[in-house]
Amino acid sequence: MCGIVGYLGYRKAYPIVINGLQRLEYRGYDSAGIILINENNVNLYKTKGKVSDLKELVAKNNSNGGLALGHTRWATHGIPNNENSHPHVSNSGNLVIVHNGIIENYDTLKKELTTRGYTFTSDTDTEVLINLIEEIKTTNNCKLGEAVQLALTSVIGAYAIAVFDISKPNEIIVARLGSPIAIGIGENNKDFFIASDASPFIEYTKDAIYLDDEELAIIKLGKDIRIRKIQDNAIVEPNIQELKLNLEQIEKGGYEHFMLKEIHEQPKAILDTYRGRLLADKGIIKMGSVDNNITKFLNANRIIIVACGTSWHAGLVAEYLFEDLARMPVEVEYASEFRYRNPIINKGDIVIAISQSGETADTLAAIKLAKSKGAFVFGVCNVVGSSIARETNTGAYTHAGPEIGVASTKAFTTQITVLTLIALKLGNLKGELSNSQFHTYLQEMSLIPSKVEETLKINAIVEEIASIYKDAPNCLYLGRGYNFPVALEGALKLKEISYIHAEGYPAAEMKHGPIALIDESMPVVVIATKKGHYDKVVSNIQEIKSRKGKIIAVVTKGDTIVKELADHIIEIPETLEAFTPLLTTIPLQLLSYHIAVMRGCNVDQPRNLAKSVTVE
Ligand code: AGP
Repeated sequence: MCGIVGYLGYRKAYPIVINGLQRLEYRGYDSAGIILINENNVNLYKTKGKVSDLKELVAKNNSNGGLALGHTRWATHGIPNNENSHPHVSNSGNLVIVHNGIIENYDTLKKELTTRGYTFTSDTDTEVLINLIEEIKTTNNCKLGEAVQLALTSVIGAYAIAVFDISKPNEIIVARLGSPIAIGIGENNKDFFIASDASPFIEYTKDAIYLDDEELAIIKLGKDIRIRKIQDNAIVEPNIQELKLNLEQIEKGGYEHFMLKEIHEQPKAILDTYRGRLLADKGIIKMGSVDNNITKFLNANRIIIVACGTSWHAGLVAEYLFEDLARMPVEVEYASEFRYRNPIINKGDIVIAISQSGETADTLAAIKLAKSKGAFVFGVCNVVGSSIARETNTGAYTHAGPEIGVASTKAFTTQITVLTLIALKLGNLKGELSNSQFHTYLQEMSLIPSKVEETLKINAIVEEIASIYKDAPNCLYLGRGYNFPVALEGALKLKEISYIHAEGYPAAEMKHGPIALIDESMPVVVIATKKGHYDKVVSNIQEIKSRKGKIIAVVTKGDTIVKELADHIIEIPETLEAFTPLLTTIPLQLLSYHIAVMRGCNVDQPRNLAKSVTVE
């Protein structure tokens, strides 16, 4: 939920940390701060607002040495203001911390520290933690690493933290429980980077350690990194991984916004998702994690899908896929509800957890619950090595590449791609899809990237439609069958980036209430592709038309009937019904994008949101 960046070494730390914070702004952007250490000079800058505001505040006073620690925040405890921004400093002025996560028992700890004379200038849980560390360090007269470790044993909650002592600027302590933290290793123990993900240091090193939960690392200039378990002090051998990420992937590449870039990346992202898995010519779907557990999948009583937001919508599409293609019963659950509902989970159930970031706290908690009840948990994640990817029994990555725009686009279509491959494979093995049907599906799937490419050509038409409806206060999205979840997703996209109130409905459900909203000022986006309840959707369009609603219809190329009825049509290529969400979602992404741009909204960083929601 927040972004942490730190540097310790021989380079100038400021540009590394400030640029790194800008790359991590997708994690939170309501306030930011940085501490710069240069021999005896300590400069702390904190501000409400974005990293660009922080940059302005620091301005030319950035001539610092080789230690800096920065933070970009998404507020949990305390409103976004200068005082609540990180880094936080202990009462003595010696210890500094940046934190991502929530200390749930901070109030009890704060009261205890207050009775012992500690004072607080912010409303944050983080300031409590740094003072707790200070108290332990002073009382036990121990080293910083030991004090941090002891403090963390009293903490309930989630954290990724980086802590250092201003009087010993050659050492940083890093620890993690439930929130990610990576350590980049530069030259010969002379050069260390710390960040919530590897993007801030990708141009400096390809070697990184991702801390596991309950691990604490001591990073000291001139020494090898030492890692130990927080609870039992067990030594952990550092696992240095080679980063696959490159700079190009995390830059805008000529697009005005990351969201637009990511929308246009979908043909390649889908191809990357099924590369090596879909062998259409051989009539095979090869997925190691499914193949190795095929008995479990084939004998599963039911599939329970847990996810949040857009990933939940992908789960809803998967419900249609698994039921339709593999005749398997599916339940799709909001992870946040599932975890608190005392759900009935049996040994023969397979839980599929879907998450782009792999860090969503509710999804992670749902996985832990399902595992504790004996379910086999399969993850569909984008971020390699993320908490969810590690917590699940096994899974499949989407390989969409970094998604930086807060609004999910390519994550959605690539999640659907993975789930489609699994459903098709199981459908064939269960005998629900004949070999010839299976081959037809595989052949068509291999054409989807080029059909998405073709769909993207409607951009100019969508932009024109956006200019007509950009000031509408409300919008309805309707779809049926496979395209009902797409209607939900279209509405979510519009809401989150343009702040227009939008609702998605199954088209036929409209007459049970929402139809009352329709008048000449209500735009209604209807997904009316040829395959899938076409005639029924046409009737729904008639119902809207009779009430003077404005119809924006997504239709199959060559459609004539809806063309007569709708105010605007957006044509997409024909495909099999099960694959239509991969195409129909594209114009809806573009529509929300253009409307948001025209309304002057911050497309990549919409208000109040963050890319990964690592708190409940
Ligand atoms: C979608 O545009 C949102 N960013 C949000 O709904 C997101 O899908 C949700 O928070 C789940 O995130 P995850 O896929 O990283 O778990």
